[in-house]
Amino acid sequence: MTVPVLVAVAWPYASGSRHLGHLAGAYLPADVFARHQRLVGNEVLMVSGSDVHGTPITVRAEREGVSPTVIVDRYHREFVRQWDQLGFSWDLFTTTGTDNHAQVTQEMFLAQLANGHIDRRVSEQYYDPTACRFLPDRYIEGTCPHCAYGEARGDQCDNCGRTLDALELGDPRSKISGATPERRETEHFYFRYSDFTARLMQIYDDKPHWRPHVLNFVRGYLKEGLLDRAITRDIDWGIDLPVDDLGSNKRIYVWYDAVIGYLSASKEWSMQHGDADAWRHWWENDESRHVYFIGKDNIPFHCLFWPAQLMGAGELHLPDDVPANQYVTFKGGKASASRGVGLTIDEGLALFEPDGLRYALAANFPEQADTEVSIEAIARRINEELVANWGNLVNRVLSMLHKNHGAQPASTNRLEQDTALLRGVDETLLRCGQHLHRIELRAALREAMSGAQSINAYLNATEPWKLAKSDPQRSATVLGTALDAINGLRVCFAPYLPFSTARLDAILGPIDGWIRKEVPVGTDIEKPLPLFAKIDIDALTA
Ligand code: MF3
Ligand code: ZN
Repeated sequence: MTVPVLVAVAWPYASGSRHLGHLAGAYLPADVFARHQRLVGNEVLMVSGSDVHGTPITVRAEREGVSPTVIVDRYHREFVRQWDQLGFSWDLFTTTGTDNHAQVTQEMFLAQLANGHIDRRVSEQYYDPTACRFLPDRYIEGTCPHCAYGEARGDQCDNCGRTLDALELGDPRSKISGATPERRETEHFYFRYSDFTARLMQIYDDKPHWRPHVLNFVRGYLKEGLLDRAITRDIDWGIDLPVDDLGSNKRIYVWYDAVIGYLSASKEWSMQHGDADAWRHWWENDESRHVYFIGKDNIPFHCLFWPAQLMGAGELHLPDDVPANQYVTFKGGKASASRGVGLTIDEGLALFEPDGLRYALAANFPEQADTEVSIEAIARRINEELVANWGNLVNRVLSMLHKNHGAQPASTNRLEQDTALLRGVDETLLRCGQHLHRIELRAALREAMSGAQSINAYLNATEPWKLAKSDPQRSATVLGTALDAINGLRVCFAPYLPFSTARLDAILGPIDGWIRKEVPVGTDIEKPLPLFAKIDIDALTA
C-alpha cells in the first residue's frame, strides 16, 4: 500500500547564510528520508521555503540600511542555488512571502478566532524610549530566567531552547540603542495554547517511536502547562491581520505564520499541479504520515504550538514524528550563522563535492547527541570510508569487467560463497530500509557501508584478478556476481548520494524500487571514471 508522506522541513530564515550545522540538522536528513520514501513507492510531498518575516530579517536589514526585501531576496536566491548544488529533491521550496501564504495564514487565524482559541489582551511590552519603538523578540536581549545565559533573546533562549516572554529576561537591553527599555501597555491577539495542554499531554503519552530527547523536552514543557502567547507584534514587517481591531501598526508574529508554511506550501504545490484540492490527500487523511525535520531549538514550535494551531483550526493531520536533531559543533561550540562559528554551506561546497559532503555529514548526523564536525574530519571520512570502501570497490569491479569482458557476463555455476554474498546484500537492503523507515539515518548508512565491506571481502577471498587467466569462467561468475551485489547495494546509497547514483544509473540503468535487481547479461561496461575524488588533506589544511 502506498502511503502519502509529508516531509516537512524547517524553513530557513532568509536573514543570512546557512551553515553546515543547519544542513546536517534539518535539510539533508529530510532529503535522504524523502528519497528513500520515494524509492519504496510512497507518495512524497517534501516542502519548505524561506522564512521571510520577523525580527531576524528586520534586524539585519536595519544593520545594512536596506529594506527587508533586499535581504530576503538575496538569501532566498542563495538557498535555492545551494539546494540545486546539493542535489535536493524538493517538491516545493517557496517562501512565506507569497500571497498564498498570507491568505492561508489569515484563514487559519480567522478559523481559530471563530473557534474561541484567539482573544485580545492588553499587556506590558518593552519599549525603547530613545528609538520610540516597541522591542519585540530579537530587538531585546537579557539574561535567561531558566539557565542564566546572558544573551538570551526576547522570544527564545539560544542556550536552553526555552521560549520566553521578554519581560522574564534579567537585565534587559535594547538591541537598537543599548538603552534600558521601559514597559508600556499595548494590545495584542493571543493564541490560547493552554486550551490544548491536556490534549497534547495525551498525544505525547503514546509516542514510543519518538527520539527520547525530543519527548523529554516536550513532556517537561507540558508538565508546566502551555502558556497563552501573543501572536501579533508591534512591527511593520509581517503578515497583516485579517481583522482591523488593533489598528494598522500590528503584524502577525513570525513563528505563528512560519509553521503554517507547511500547509500553505502544500496548497501552493497543489495549485501548481493543476489540482487545487490535492493537498487534502496529505492533510485530511488519517492514513498519511507527517514527518518534520528540524533542529532542536525548533522543538516547542513544531511539537507544541503548531499542533495546537492545527487543532484550533479544525481537523488537520497532526505531526506523526518530529525527529529533531541535536547540534553540530565546531571546535566544541555550536555552529552559528550570526556568530560566525563553523562553515557556511558555500564554504563546504567550495571544499568538497556534494556527494562527499552529504556522505560525511550523514555519517555523523547529530541524531541523539551533539556531534563535532571539522574540515579535516569531513575529508577523512570521504577518503577513508566513501572512497576507500565504496568508490574504489565500484571502480575496481567495473574496470575488471570492462577489461575482461566489456559487458556483464553470465554468472554460471554460482557457488555458495556467491549466493551468500547476494543474500547478504538482500539482508542489508532490508535492514537499511528498516533504519531509514525509523529515521535512523546514520545507522542505515552504516549498514550500507558494511555491505560494501562484505563485497570487498568477497573479492579479496575470490581474487578474480588472478582468475582471469587461470579460470576465465570462474572469473566471469565472480565479477558478474560482484556487480549484481553492487547493483543491489547502490540502492542503499541512493538516498545519500544523488550525483554518483545518477552516474551509476547511466551504466546500470535506473533504480526502480528498494530491491536488488540482477544486471542484465550483456549490459555494456565502458571504462569507468572514479565515482568520487580523493581529497588532498595536506593541501586542504595547509
Ligand atoms: N526560521 C526558523 C529557523 O531558522 C525555522 C522556522 S520553521 C517553521 O530557526 F516551520 F516555522 F517555518
Ligand atoms: Zn536559557
